[in-house]
Amino acid sequence: MAGNVYGLDLGTHEIRIFDKKKNGFRREKDAIAMKDKKDIFAVGDGAYAIYEKSPADIQVVFPMKEGVIARFDDMQYLLGALLKADGRPARSAQYVIAVPTDVTEVEKKAFYDLFFHYGAKAKSVRIVERGLADAIGCGVDVSSEKGIFVANFGAGTTELSVLSQGGMVMNRLLKTGGGNLDSAIVSLVRRSRDFLIGMTTAEKLRMEFGVFDQSTDSALTVSGRDLVSGVPSQAEISISLVRAAMKEPLEECVRAMRSMFERTPPDVRRAIEQKGICLTGGLARMKGLSTYLEESTGLTVLTADEPEMCAVRGLKEIILDRGLYRQLTYSMLDEDYRWLR
Ligand SMILES: Nc1ncnc2c1ncn2[C@@H]1O[C@H](COP(=O)(O)OP(=O)(O)OP(=O)(O)O)[C@@H](O)[C@H]1O
Ligand SMILES: [Mg+2]
Repeated sequence: MAGNVYGLDLGTHEIRIFDKKKNGFRREKDAIAMKDKKDIFAVGDGAYAIYEKSPADIQVVFPMKEGVIARFDDMQYLLGALLKADGRPARSAQYVIAVPTDVTEVEKKAFYDLFFHYGAKAKSVRIVERGLADAIGCGVDVSSEKGIFVANFGAGTTELSVLSQGGMVMNRLLKTGGGNLDSAIVSLVRRSRDFLIGMTTAEKLRMEFGVFDQSTDSALTVSGRDLVSGVPSQAEISISLVRAAMKEPLEECVRAMRSMFERTPPDVRRAIEQKGICLTGGLARMKGLSTYLEESTGLTVLTADEPEMCAVRGLKEIILDRGLYRQLTYSMLDEDYRWLR
């Protein structure tokens, strides 16, 4: 029996898998809970559910950091657990992985090695530039379109891609995502209020307040720890404090978008001016982000449906379309990569 084909988008926050045989998607948090730093306690959504809630001997770790694999063995274990959900590891399966472009060859090779040295030997492992998969998942015809600007705002990264006629013209991976906004909120609340909140509380504040418009006097009461008395308590955090914390990281993204657009070749730029920017990634759901980006870049911004699913939706199309598969996927065993073996 022929092996299955899987498409994978490995995010800092979430793993998304397209399963060809089932013709469906699976998503799971990219997290592992360990007991005493060695025994696996829970994986995926189960591990994330106890993040910041677990006792001290259980740590929740995230195998991906800033868009690349930071804990190789943990990542391999997690994927093994997710892909053999039916009881056994998938035999002689083919894997198509969406990988960020602006990373080193060694970091790219690690994505490949995850599957190539995987317990149940992979039949083939192919790579797709994630920006291309993202654009396809947005509903863009990447082969014919003369200019596409995709901005993927994720949890650990913001990936900016300029594409034209099936190729990547420019790409930049910024190490700023939703998680960085959350840690900026945590540290500003600590510095200005002597109050310690968790990352999940910061995320809640960020989701509630968004980045644009909304009355400036709103506030939200959250739980945390008073650093002066040392006891758990509650504090009212204002929208202006949350917005102030997010200002610098968001401005960095806007500066990078502007500078990439300025360096774009004129023909491609004209096409982008007509079509606008495709906004993808989970953070695209944040209230007011598209308006904020429109105001600060001067370009139209179109938010994709289910923006965090764009890359894996694109992978599905690539896997199901022979032409796209041949045109857009490559193996790291191909000629160009020989020296890496
Ligand atoms: N409704 C929402 N409002 C604000 N933020 C949101 C919302 N929904 C999701 N997010 C944020 O989106 C981020 C997750 O996005 P996504 O799933 O695209 O990341 P990822 O692909 O795992 O990470 P990366 O691509 O950076 O490696 C999280 O930071 C989350 O807080
Ligand atoms: Mg992502």
